[in-house]
Amino acid sequence: MKAIVVTDQAAEAAGITLAERPGPAPGINDVVVEVRASGFVPAEWEWASTWVDRSGRERTQAVIGHEFAGVVASLGYGTTGFSVGQRVFGITDWHRDGTLAEYAGVEARSLAPLPGNVDFTVGASLPISGLTAWQGLFQHGRVRAGQSVLAHGAAGAVGSVVTQLAREFGAYVIGTGRAADRQAALEFGANEFLDLGHDDLGEVGGVDLVFDVIGGEVQRRSANIVRPGGTLVSVVGPVEARPADGLAIDFVVESVPSQLTEIVDRVRDGRLRTHIGTIVTLDDAIPALNPTERRKGKTVIRVRP
Ligand SMILES: NC(=O)c1ccc[n+]([C@@H]2O[C@H](COP(=O)([O-])OP(=O)(O)OC[C@H]3O[C@@H](n4cnc5c(N)ncnc54)[C@H](OP(=O)(O)O)[C@@H]3O)[C@@H](O)[C@H]2O)c1
Repeated sequence: MKAIVVTDQAAEAAGITLAERPGPAPGINDVVVEVRASGFVPAEWEWASTWVDRSGRERTQAVIGHEFAGVVASLGYGTTGFSVGQRVFGITDWHRDGTLAEYAGVEARSLAPLPGNVDFTVGASLPISGLTAWQGLFQHGRVRAGQSVLAHGAAGAVGSVVTQLAREFGAYVIGTGRAADRQAALEFGANEFLDLGHDDLGEVGGVDLVFDVIGGEVQRRSANIVRPGGTLVSVVGPVEARPADGLAIDFVVESVPSQLTEIVDRVRDGRLRTHIGTIVTLDDAIPALNPTERRKGKTVIRVRP
């Protein structure tokens, strides 16, 4: 099968190649998916799981990409709940060969059915940003109606979903980003917008929840504006700054089928809009995967027409 593999972290874009690889064999409780489309998060390049397995051994020629939409091609021993030909979407294990390939092996417990009227390209754009927003807001941030949320990077892939879901659940949302992101953040539903290059975070007063997708100095300044009893949730590594009288949580998103269904239901009925910035084919994908290039919105790779 065709697959996009990485060979050398130091080589950056030059270490990404389109290669011919053996297709995956389904393990116990696995599904092999014929991938139709795959999302891509540029920071994957920096994740340890791209380069070592769960025992710390070096991974050679790892297939990158971890979110996908496709069709079940075969079932492993003992797999229940899915049938060959079924449309599915989800996230594959970070340490396992991924989804920028014609086929991917994935644990059945990580999959949800993809409704027939949702395009594979849309389905592939949802799992990582959708679940990250859902889990950060509701599981870790425990946001409630009437609370205030500072949604960093509100025009980005994760931040745009954070903004929409927080509004839907009755929160007041202050979106942040660069000056050029203002209109997009407001269109995703932010009640107001803060330009991080110009406005002072301190002017915000107190918020109940900060959703951090940026880290560094922005995170440090954000910790100071969390109200007593509030929470700073970060998805960019271990939290470096804690609110004086609140919680700080960092997490890595997990594939939870019931939450995938909540998300895709919202896309179907128009409550949620996905933010796809770039769509390319697998054969033409490599320039779009350059980890040093910034792109607006989610990059989706169409693996099959
Ligand atoms: N832990 C997890 O499970 C998890 C899951 C998903 C994502 N993540 C991480 O979350 C981060 C965001 O992911 P994403 O897919 O949402 O990326 P994205 O689409 O690039 O969104 C990030 C947004 O924040 C903006 N931004 C970044 N730095 C900024 C700054 N200093 N000032 C103002 N705006 C700034 C970006 O603007 P520009 O494009 O102009 O820079 C962009 O609009 C990544 O680091 C990713 O690895 C973690």
